[in-house]
Amino acid sequence: LFESVELAPRDPILGLVEQYNADTRANKVNLGVGVYYDNEGRIPLLECVSQAEIAHIEAHAARGYLPIEGIPGYNKGAQTLLLGKDSPLLASGRVLTAQALGGTGALKIGADFLKQLLPTSKVVISDPSWENHRALFERAGFTVETYSYYDAATRGLNFDGMLAALGSLPEQTIVILHACCHNPTGVDPTFEQWEKIAEVVKNKNLVPFLDIAYQGFGDGIEEDAAVVRLFAQQDITMLISSSFSKSFSLYGERVGALTLITSSNEERGRVLSQLKRVIRTNYSNPPTHGGTVVSTVLNTPELYTLWTNELAAMRERIRNMRVQLVEKLKAHGVTQNFDFMLAQRGMFSYSGLTKDQVDRLRDEHGVYAVSSGRICVAALNDRNIDYVAEAIAKVLA
Ligand code: LMR
Repeated sequence: LFESVELAPRDPILGLVEQYNADTRANKVNLGVGVYYDNEGRIPLLECVSQAEIAHIEAHAARGYLPIEGIPGYNKGAQTLLLGKDSPLLASGRVLTAQALGGTGALKIGADFLKQLLPTSKVVISDPSWENHRALFERAGFTVETYSYYDAATRGLNFDGMLAALGSLPEQTIVILHACCHNPTGVDPTFEQWEKIAEVVKNKNLVPFLDIAYQGFGDGIEEDAAVVRLFAQQDITMLISSSFSKSFSLYGERVGALTLITSSNEERGRVLSQLKRVIRTNYSNPPTHGGTVVSTVLNTPELYTLWTNELAAMRERIRNMRVQLVEKLKAHGVTQNFDFMLAQRGMFSYSGLTKDQVDRLRDEHGVYAVSSGRICVAALNDRNIDYVAEAIAKVLA
């Protein structure tokens, strides 16, 4: 039966984790996957999570099936984070959220639903984008193309190119937009640029699918949702995939959400009925534990405050690592200007290292990065940063 099965290539990001885990060098550093580590090099268990978990265990709650669309308090909490607690949309009955298996799961059920709704539309993603965007939408049956985004010469946004590309798309093209902390570049449009992007999306009748997996890692929870709120204010119907993997440090719990802004309460009911079919035929209904923890934190004022403080501390530590990395590269004799890393936002830095340099970093120094040159700044700490800077300096020399 399986004789003809070909060996698939490793996943460009999670495959690196497999390689890293198999590496026996003591000084290895994993800057590949987008995971936040604390200054001790550990994935933190947030205090707010710990307290919510203890309460959950002590409640001896039964683990029955959840509703197909997940925990109501979780979904409400996810909506509120995206739209803001004072958004009139929340009370309008037009917003629908389904708990999903991480941000990836939200993208997947959104993609399957869209394929059914718009079978002939194509999908466009930024150039470059998160490695899994293309694969995921292709697997859902779409043709995937790119729109201009990153300008390697300025290490910034090719805004004119982006706007022109979006403006030339056929109606109902599905446009994947990173609402904050662009993955992999860390380069985001300004709010004024987003206003122009929203205008094109609306005028050209495009279908925006906003991906927001790093809310809270840019400037703050409210600030990072500005683009979602802008699109909502413009009355644009859209899909939004959001994730708590990073912001709650709950990677393995697969806590994400798919939110859809529909045109009316009646429409919302019809859309939900179809989305439930997509979920039911994929994985039936979501798991209880992570969703309960997140829901408890989002709906308990003291835990919510604790969470925002813990998230702020993660954000600050990443910023500090950026500053130190730039300084240490200089100290190790790198003459090329790396100040652009300071302007990049979120967990990642698009370092400009070539694939060959990334290979050398891994093979000669045990420092793992994505072949695009993306490095996860959130994996740097006081103990490994000097070693990493030195390794980068050596491959640049
Ligand atoms: C990443 O970009 O590294 C993360 O989003 C993890 C993943 O699933 O790829």
